[in-house]
Amino acid sequence: MRDENVLAGDFQPFEDDFEATLRPQKLDEFVGQEKVKERLRISIEASRTLGKPLDHVLLSGPPGLGKTSLAGILANELGASIKKTSGPALERPGDLAAILSNLESGDVFFIDEIHRVPRAVEEVMYPAMEDFELDIILGKGPAATSIRLDLARFTLVGATTRIGTVAAPLRDRFGIVERIDYYTPADLDLVVRRSSRILGIEIDDSGASQIAERSRGTARIANRLLARVRDYAIARADGRIDGAVADAALDVFEIDDLGLDKVDRAILDAVVSKFGGGPVGLGTLAIAVGEEPETVEDAYEPFLLQAGLLARTPRGRVATLGAYRHLGLEPPASAQTALEL
Ligand SMILES: Nc1ncnc2c1ncn2[C@@H]1O[C@H](COP(=O)(O)OP(=O)(O)OP(=O)(O)O)[C@@H](O)[C@H]1O
Ligand SMILES: [Mg+2]
Repeated sequence: MRDENVLAGDFQPFEDDFEATLRPQKLDEFVGQEKVKERLRISIEASRTLGKPLDHVLLSGPPGLGKTSLAGILANELGASIKKTSGPALERPGDLAAILSNLESGDVFFIDEIHRVPRAVEEVMYPAMEDFELDIILGKGPAATSIRLDLARFTLVGATTRIGTVAAPLRDRFGIVERIDYYTPADLDLVVRRSSRILGIEIDDSGASQIAERSRGTARIANRLLARVRDYAIARADGRIDGAVADAALDVFEIDDLGLDKVDRAILDAVVSKFGGGPVGLGTLAIAVGEEPETVEDAYEPFLLQAGLLARTPRGRVATLGAYRHLGLEPPASAQTALEL
């Protein structure tokens, strides 16, 4: 499973435990995304009434918005068991065949990072998804023969941060396709309160809203910031989180008032200071901030675009006037021109 660098530091095993504790188990516990939840509720109910497995579900959206959580919730709501893998783990068709042939009727089969399933494996998936059949090739070359296996009727749930790179024939085989969007501060407020309740953290309205406002629209970040603010509250205050404690803690962790972290700001700063406001290509920009292009594109850029700080033009990324303002810089006259290109 991929992850952001944001405050993850070297504490991944701890963070994974932490995420598991806070992962919602039922649709009712899953905050926000009301329209998505309503559509899923309808499909779940229909599949129950018909006694048929749920159609295959494709979930897309930036990291940390709840795709993996939703896959688990779907299995729970269907009373089904879930088997998990990820695109890169399915190296050969045989890897997929081994899992598929062990599925039981109604099982949820979750493939994370489904855009990274190799082409040869993807081709085996098509008949499996459509007709619950598996074609296995035995032998090589002219002597190769193929046998067909019947599979149990399962529900494939795929998750991707890059819907654009999921091959169209694969995408088209999902009956239910949902995009998970960034959360509003009001939603994240509920996420922070829910997590505080589960973790036994005392937090007031203003503490919760400070964290919610500065979580980049992302549930995972809201939980991580809550954990860091809680550390600060224990070490530097009386353990309770109020607005002043949250504010002071977020300053220490260099989360600014829009919720941008050091990498977000480095990206904006690079576009503005090193590349004259842009346009600059993704690869060049990634090198300038010392991150992988995929990380910039999947984990950082979507929020900067949605916050109106960065724009994508055919010639590359461009800093908006808002970016200059946020960095406390005077935009040059050319910045406006670049935006209009
Ligand atoms: N709607 C929600 N309500 C409450 N908590 C949520 C919600 N969405 C996500 N979370 C919290 O955020 C954490 C991260 O969510 P999750 O792992 O499901 O995201 P993801 O979309 O799969 O991310 P990635 O693309 O990085 O795999 C979860 O452990 C959960 O605690
Ligand atoms: Mg996930």
